[in-house]
Amino acid sequence: MRPFIHVNCAMSADGKIAGSDRKQVRISSAEDKERVKRLRRQYDAILVGVGTVLADDPHLTVKGCDFDENPIRIVIDPHGRTPLDAAVVDDRAKTVIITLESCDKVWPGVSIIRCDEIVLVDIMEHLAQCGIESVLVEGGGETIASFFKEKLVDRYTVFVGSMLIGGRTSPTPVDGDGWVADDGIQLEFKGSEVLGDGVLLTYSPRYQ
Ligand SMILES: NC(=O)c1ccc[n+]([C@@H]2O[C@H](COP(=O)([O-])OP(=O)(O)OC[C@H]3O[C@@H](n4cnc5c(N)ncnc54)[C@H](OP(=O)(O)O)[C@@H]3O)[C@@H](O)[C@H]2O)c1
Repeated sequence: MRPFIHVNCAMSADGKIAGSDRKQVRISSAEDKERVKRLRRQYDAILVGVGTVLADDPHLTVKGCDFDENPIRIVIDPHGRTPLDAAVVDDRAKTVIITLESCDKVWPGVSIIRCDEIVLVDIMEHLAQCGIESVLVEGGGETIASFFKEKLVDRYTVFVGSMLIGGRTSPTPVDGDGWVADDGIQLEFKGSEVLGDGVLLTYSPRYQ
C-alpha cells in the first residue's frame, strides 16, 4: 500500500521550471496560484527535494492555515543539506526529512526518517503506514524524475505559463538521467483548463 501521488509543477512555454542559475522564476498566473493553494489543502503531505529547498527556500504551507491544518512537509535530503534556518523547517507545519543513516544532522522539531538508501517505493509504503494517504510532489526536476522512474506517479499536472526562460541547463519538470526507452513514459491526456494567461494540462501516466 502506498499513498496516491500527484506531481504538480509550473513550466514556461519552452519547458523550463527555473532559470539556468536555478533561481525561481514566476511562471504561475494568479489563477494558477489559487489552484495550487486549493490543491495543497487536499493532500496529506507536500514533498520536495533538497535542491528546491536550497534554490527557493519555500515554506510549503497554505496561507491562512494553522499548524495542524497545513499538510505535512516532506523533504528528500539524503546528505542533510537542508539549512537549520530553512523556511521548510519553521514552526508553521509539521516537517519530515528523509535522509541517509550516514547523515547525523538533527533539525529541532523535525521528524527525521533515516534510511540505508533512498528507495522511494519503500519510503512511500512507510508514509502510508504512518497514515499519509496522499502526497503532492512539487519538485524539482530531479525529484519528479525519480518518482516517474519508479512508476509512482498517479496524476501529473503542469501549468504552462506564457513566457520563455531559455537556457540549455535550465531545469525542466522531469530531469534526472533520462530513460533508455523508445517511447518514453506514455501519458493519458485528461484535460486542459485556461488559468489566466496560461494553461493547465492534466495527465495520468500509462506505465508499461
Ligand atoms: N516551476 C516549478 O514548479 C518548480 C517547483 C519546484 C522547484 N523548481 C525549481 O527546480 C530547481 C530544483 O530542482 P532540482 O532538480 O535541482 O532539485 P530537487 O529535485 O528539488 O532536489 C534534488 C535533490 O534531492 C535529493 N533527492 C530527490 N529525490 C531523490 C531520490 N529519489 N533519491 C535520492 N536523492 C533524491 C538529492 O539530493 P542530494 O544531491 O543531496 O543527494 C537530489 O540531488 C530549482 O531551480 C527550483 O527553482 C521549480
